[in-house]
Amino acid sequence: MVVGLMDFLELAKKRYSVRGYKPQEVEKEKLDYVLEAFRMAPTACNLQPFKLFVIKTKGKEKALGEICGSWKWFTEAPLLLCVCALPKKAWSRADGKNYSDVDCAIAFDHLVLAATEKGLGTCWVAKFNVAKAKELLGIKNDFEPIAFTPLGYPKVEAGRKIRKPVEELVEFL
Ligand SMILES: Cc1cc2nc3c(=O)[nH]c(=O)nc-3n(C[C@H](O)[C@H](O)[C@H](O)COP(=O)(O)O)c2cc1C
Repeated sequence: MVVGLMDFLELAKKRYSVRGYKPQEVEKEKLDYVLEAFRMAPTACNLQPFKLFVIKTKGKEKALGEICGSWKWFTEAPLLLCVCALPKKAWSRADGKNYSDVDCAIAFDHLVLAATEKGLGTCWVAKFNVAKAKELLGIKNDFEPIAFTPLGYPKVEAGRKIRKPVEELVEFL
């Protein structure tokens, strides 16, 4: 399927949290494309304090499922991605605020939007068991898992986009 040319707002509106996936594999070119979008993200002081784990779910559904509990769709796509922060390698502001989470979020959402452009589905998942995630993925102590997403072809349609009105979200000073 060819996704026609979209402007950015169309792309942002097209993305939705996909909670149901087909078993269809993700083509290598599409995976490379979303990984490149991840890599091109800006980070504070360009420190890139993170690592992305790309996990093949096939045959590991049961073990991986333990990371998030009961959602079947979590391991339904052929790939499961996890972005991990390396707070020790990230920039901190003078008041001590560490920006590794922000860096992770920007890069991960680059990936999510690039996936949408390619007709792939994703869903940000932050509700997971950190200890289980670290154990099952063999993530070393300095890394902090921030978010997961399945990556694959959606088998469910988008729901309604519910957002606060712009007047509530934006204040002009
Ligand atoms: C940081 C973050 C964490 C999220 N964690 C979860 C999660 O653990 N489980 C889940 O089903 N959806 C999760 N979501 C998806 C949100 O529920 C979803 O983005 C929101 O309801 C808006 O719907 P939409 O993505 O379809 O536009 C998360 C989204 C973000 C940005």
